Amino acid sequence: MPWYNDIDTKNWKEYDDVLTTSFWSFHRENSGVHNASYHGNFIPQVPRQMFKRYTKKGDWILDPFMGSGTSLIEAQRMGRNSIGIDLQGDVVSEAFSRINQENNPECKTIGFVGDSKTINVDSITQRLGIKNYQFVMFHPPYWDIIKFSENNNDLSNAATLEAFLDDFGQVIDNTTRLLQKNRYCALVMGDKYANSQIVPLGFHCMNLFIQKGFLLKAILVKDFDRTRGKINQQAIWRYRALASDFYVFDHEYIFVFKKLR
Ligand SMILES: C[S@@+](CC[C@H](N)C(=O)[O-])C[C@H]1O[C@@H](n2cnc3c(N)ncnc32)[C@H](O)[C@@H]1O
Repeated sequence: MPWYNDIDTKNWKEYDDVLTTSFWSFHRENSGVHNASYHGNFIPQVPRQMFKRYTKKGDWILDPFMGSGTSLIEAQRMGRNSIGIDLQGDVVSEAFSRINQENNPECKTIGFVGDSKTINVDSITQRLGIKNYQFVMFHPPYWDIIKFSENNNDLSNAATLEAFLDDFGQVIDNTTRLLQKNRYCALVMGDKYANSQIVPLGFHCMNLFIQKGFLLKAILVKDFDRTRGKINQQAIWRYRALASDFYVFDHEYIFVFKKLR
């Protein structure tokens, strides 16, 4: 049994629901207080799979881009404590109005409004009476693909690719300093297309972690969620792709890293 999760490998055949291969294809599962309407959220199965493989009950999970609280809801259901941070106060309040309806007395679920580049994580952990946390789930803006707010500190408002990577690098430094050594973090990121070429945001961000000394443990490819709106657009994009020289994005990445020092 790995020491960092609750999987009992003696009964390994009972874990059909836990993915162990690198291509992920899901239909959104939207139970309970999850809210699929937050533009740019991820489907609950992404944090659920990560928390099953890399955390155990009682661990603390940090999501520095909590948005509608998908990670926090999954963590709470699984008996993991969680801390969410987002720049937008109204987004955090709206998320907690739902999260609190599914209270789990076994664990704590806490939210903070702030800039994850600079928020004082020491004062957060001191307030919670913990030394560190055991997993960080990163789901930042895919640079400027969706503009989340007018705030200059919002990563979706970075003026250039370099500025976006610099900002995200600051978030990584600030929020992984108190990630427990030998534990894991994951990044969900997609690519973008601009000026007739691919901007491989996923791989740029992956390289940031590698440069900072993290061990790359997984590159998972996940297909895009097929909402009704997107299905209607598929024909238009298929036509555009056929009439030109590009392929339509149908996937994003989940990278898993281990903190060695
Ligand atoms: C891709 S969304 C995350 C969605 C989330 N995983 C969910 O399921 O709802 C990115 C979030 O990052 C927030 N954000 C952008 N820049 C930030 C920063 N510097 N510090 C904290 N949050 C930030 C945005 O407000 C947005 O809610």
